[in-house]
Parts: sequence; C-alpha cells; structure tokens
Amino acid sequence: MTLTPVPQDRPTLPLQPTNRHGSRSRMTCLFRCGNACDHPEPNPTTNDHIQDEIAKAVQRRSLLKGAAVGSGALVLGSLTGGLADQAVASSGSGKRDLATAAFTPVRPNKRDAVTTATGFTYDVIIRWGDPVVAGAPTFDPYAQTAEAARTQFGYNNDYVGVLPLKGSKEALLVVNHEYTDENLMFPANTYTPAEIKTAAMANYGVSVVQIKPGLVPGSWRQVKPSSKTTYNRRIHLETTFAFDGPAAGDDRLKTTADPAGIQVKGTLNNCAGGTTPWGTVLSGEENFNSYFDKSGALDPRYTAEYQRYGITGSGKGWMEVDPRFDLTVEPHEPHRFGWIVEIDPMQPGSTPRKHTMLGRFKHEGANISLTKNGRAVAYMGDDERGDYIYKFVSAAKFDDRGTSKARAHNKTLLTKGTLYAAKFSGDGSEDGVYDGTGEWIPLCNDTQSFVPDMSVADVLLFTRLAADKMSPTKMDRPEDVEPNPVNGKVYAALTNNSNRGTVAMPVDEANPLASSMVRSAIGAPLTSASGNRNGYVLEITPDSGNHGSRTFTWDLFLVCGDPAAAETYFGGFAKSAVSPISCPDNVTFDSEGNLWIATDGNVLGSNDGLFRVPTSGPDRGQVLQFVTMPRGAETCGPLIADSNRSLFFAVQHPGEIDGATFEQQASTWPHTDDFPRPSVCVAFKDR
Ligand code: FEO
Ligand code: CA
Ligand code: CA
Repeated sequence: MTLTPVPQDRPTLPLQPTNRHGSRSRMTCLFRCGNACDHPEPNPTTNDHIQDEIAKAVQRRSLLKGAAVGSGALVLGSLTGGLADQAVASSGSGKRDLATAAFTPVRPNKRDAVTTATGFTYDVIIRWGDPVVAGAPTFDPYAQTAEAARTQFGYNNDYVGVLPLKGSKEALLVVNHEYTDENLMFPANTYTPAEIKTAAMANYGVSVVQIKPGLVPGSWRQVKPSSKTTYNRRIHLETTFAFDGPAAGDDRLKTTADPAGIQVKGTLNNCAGGTTPWGTVLSGEENFNSYFDKSGALDPRYTAEYQRYGITGSGKGWMEVDPRFDLTVEPHEPHRFGWIVEIDPMQPGSTPRKHTMLGRFKHEGANISLTKNGRAVAYMGDDERGDYIYKFVSAAKFDDRGTSKARAHNKTLLTKGTLYAAKFSGDGSEDGVYDGTGEWIPLCNDTQSFVPDMSVADVLLFTRLAADKMSPTKMDRPEDVEPNPVNGKVYAALTNNSNRGTVAMPVDEANPLASSMVRSAIGAPLTSASGNRNGYVLEITPDSGNHGSRTFTWDLFLVCGDPAAAETYFGGFAKSAVSPISCPDNVTFDSEGNLWIATDGNVLGSNDGLFRVPTSGPDRGQVLQFVTMPRGAETCGPLIADSNRSLFFAVQHPGEIDGATFEQQASTWPHTDDFPRPSVCVAFKDR
C-alpha cells in the first residue's frame, strides 16, 4: 500500500538529550503533566511550613510503636469482598505467599525487561490495543481509529483493581488509562493531525476486563472477549458521567452541551484509584489541566481559579477536533474535570459518577477505610509540588448487609459528608526523627462551608483555593494515600519536590530535605541535590485508632534514596541491608500489612521498580526490590491478591525516553512487537 505523507502533528520536543529532572524523560513530563514543573509553583500561599515547630523536641517514637490501631481497617478487610479479602481469610498460601516469601532483591538495572526476584516470574495479562469489548478489531498501529480504540485496551495503564465475580473463579480487572504519548503510538506519514488526536483521545479512560486463573497458582489471564464477557467495558471520553454531591448543577459546571451542569462526557488523566468496600472503583482525574487550549482570550472571571489549577490554554490541540476543549468557547469545561469518579464494574450499563463532595484538584486517587462507627473515609492526595493531603468522612454509615439495597445505599456515601485538609506539626528534629502531630482541618460539609467568604460549591469546585485559606501543610507532591488494613495507619507517598527548600517553599519537619538547618540538625551533610529528589513515605497514625479522628500523629517512615546517603532513613532498619529506592508513587498492602511501593522517576541511575517493606516487627523498614521495570517505564497500580499469591502491576510508558519515536523506539517491551506496549502484568511464584 502506498501511503501519502501528510503533515504530522506530533508535539515538538526539546532537542536536549538530557532529562528535565531526575530520570523522568522530557517526553513523560510533556505528555503526562504538561511540564508542570516548568510553571510557577501553583500554590503561592505562605501557608504554614511548621518551621517554628522544629525547635520543639518531644520523643514520640515509642508512642508510635505502641500505637496499634486498625479495628476500623480490619472491619474493612472483612467487608471488601475482594480478592484481598480472600487473602485475609486465608491461612496463607505457603511458599507461594508473597507476603512471607524470602527472596533476594532484584539488583538495580537498566534492562529493557521486567525482572522479578529469583524464583518468581510474571505474565502479561493485557496490552495496549488488545480487545476489551467483544468484536473489537485486532490492534494494528497503522490502522488506529477512535472507533477501534474505544473497544480496545487503552494506553498507559495506571490504577489496577481486581474484583472477584461471585459464584465464579473469574474476576474483573479494572484499569485506568492515564495519558497518551503520540510520538511512540503513531507511525509517521500515516495519519492526519485530526486522526492522531481523535485516536489518542479514545485511548483515555478506564477498561473493565474479565480475567480467570492461569495454570500456575497465582497467575491470571484474560478471558477472551465474547458474548460471555458481559462485564467487559471501555469507559472513554464519550462516556456519559453524572455529577453528584453539593456542586452538581452549579452554574460553573454548565456548558453548551450540558446547560444543567449535571453530566459530562468522559474522564481524563485517570491516575491511581481504589476499590471501595461496596465493590466499586474510584479513580482520580489528575493532570486534567493540560488538555485545554484557547482560541482567544481566557474568561476573566476565572483568572485566579485557572492560575491555581495550572490551566493556561496550552493543551494538546484537542480543540481542533472537539470545541469543548477551547477555553475561549467553553470556559467551564475544565471545571468538569479534576474529580474523583466512581465506576460500578458489576453493573456494566450503569452511569459512572463524579463526586463533587470529594473536592476538585489534581486527584492522584482515593482509598476508603471506615471509622469505628462505620462511616466511609476517603484519603486523597493532590499531586502538585506544595499541595495538600485531604480526607473525606461520609455523613451516612456503611451498610454491611450485602443486599442490593445496602449496596445502593453505599453508593451514595460519597455524596454527603465533610472534607478536610491535613496540617502537620513537627516536634523538632533533636530527637533524630521526623515526626509530630497533626490535625484535619474541615473545609466544608454538604450544607456548610467552613472557609471564609466561600460557599460549599466554591469550596468543592475550587478546593485548592479554599484550602489555601485554611493553612494546611504544603506537601512534596502527595501521590497515593492509603490505609493499611492490618495496622490501621495511613501511608502517603510523597514522590519528590524540586522546589522544596526555596524561599517560597521552605522545609518543614514533614518535608525536611534541602534545608541546611534541618540537615545540620540531623547531622546530614549538605549535598548538591536541590530539593527533595527521592521522596518520602509518610506514616499517619489516627488518634484513638479511628479514621474518623480529627487528630493524628505522624512520622516519616521512609526517607528514600541511596542507603549510603546520610539523609536516608528506612523505618529504623539497618541501611546496609535495604534496596535503594527513589520516587515512591503508588502503594498497596498484602494481608500481613507489608507495604508494597511502586516508583516513578528513579533518580538513582536505574529503572523504576516495585518494593516490599514490612511496617512492623523486627523487619520494619527493610525495603527489598521485588521487580524492576523496562526502559523508560514507571511502575503503577500494584495490587496483592489471591491469598497473597498474585502481584498485579501496570507497566506504564515503556520506552518513553527523549528522542524516541514510533520508528526509533527505546524499548520494545513486552517484546511482542517492534514497539512498546504498556501492559498489565501479574507476578507469582514460578516453582
Ligand atoms: Fe499520575 Fe501523581 O501520578
Ligand atoms: Ca522529630
Ligand atoms: Ca501516580
């Protein structure tokens, strides 16, 4: 076939071969978050940095060690009905148990491969382009269309949820598709610019895929799509979502297509998420700001709001194929993204919802636990340098009866309640530990705002601006914030912050690196490193062991990096016996309460990976690398399931290295084609 060359529409990339910051390629920064780090720090407030707290010295470590919590979380574990629940109920799976297995950590490497610890292996379950819906065409990179993509597995898989199907050994795999990289996806001289845009847009959203156990215990494979895979579903940018909660119907959600402000087409930049105790999936709309263009002036009514959310009018050119992405035409369209969405995979025809009650920001994800009296608590991070950690507590209580009526009630829990932002106070660095106390600052409930001069709808639509007024603590890019179902503590990945330590964002005890004062206080040498480069894992212990508590204690469980670096800390474990780890992003837990950490942007000179770390006992803090990623990829969506025998994970953006194109790829993983395909995998014991 003779192809007629047409003008290409690929974003122009900088020619520098170097990385922009850390190891994250210029391509990843451009395509995923629109070069957020190039923009002025979006949070300009001078909110509390708790510097003045550093003088206080109270040893809190012993208190933390004794603070066994978790009744609420254990209840959650018994209510999820998920594969993780089966793991809790299981007496263990012997040598196949990933929670207890001894393994030699994978050495840091730069292979174009997924490498598991010796004795374990992995399978690819589904790749970009594989059929999701029955009748989907076989993927052909030279014949990509929006119509085909809306039936196939989307690009750049992130969150991974696994929900068992009752009365069956099968389960539903629910996966987010965060963003596209047109350079790697589309061959040159094959498509018009409009064809690239529409096909790329159809690669966003969420996939629901039926899976079944493989031959080896712990392995899983896709059920071939057919008339029997009735749960399979592709949610994309044309799928109708309904708004609920107090801001639904607000004037600032109204557009030409939706004059009532109650529904919106699609979901964007879905990053992490969580599976609820009632068997639905939550997904975070993260860097939604980078998809909006402008054909003329920006609406002056929203100057401050656009600025705080990084909405500049510099998008991906989508307005050329869909005018709703033109801010000049539809100034309210960006207000319709940046939410937590809820999808019910068990009801394939159901309308997914966007929960205004959980606030609008760059949502990484949301993970649910229960208070002691049964209210649902959603923990959430706003992934921006200097933004906040949030939680929501429902007004109504979880109904554990397992009936369809109870389930319908539970699906309303995220529509009414109270939204809070976290304030962390340090107790001083003289104790040699980064730790302290904290409080949840209420922003609003469904009927009342606690923020001066802002209504409930103001708070929910422009949550960042509302929180700014209440002085929570500016954090180092909060990613996953997840409750540990065994010890009841909450673990937040703070991935890095290239701005920390500047005058605009000084250090504090919860975000300590880059300050000469703090470094000298803990005896750490000053380095040439600027800011927090390797990230932290923050451990939050709710007071009274109750996720409903307004107060908590906290400590930095991990200060990531090369163990040889003086500033690193691994929960008190011997630094000579841990794996180097950099830029924690997604986290999950096995039934023993071990924390599993996925990384994004390792700056230690090797590929990203996945790590296991005990959170209690003599091995607390022993970080061991279990899997390494292919070239250019980050690790996403880790999930331990099936009685701790299965480790699900997503390989996102393999080959996304500066200068790579479809014709000149930097990776060919999973090595089924001559181009890389983001894929969801499962690791398990191989013998
Ligand atoms: Fe999409 Fe915050 O990672
Ligand atoms: Ca301290
Ligand atoms: Ca992430």
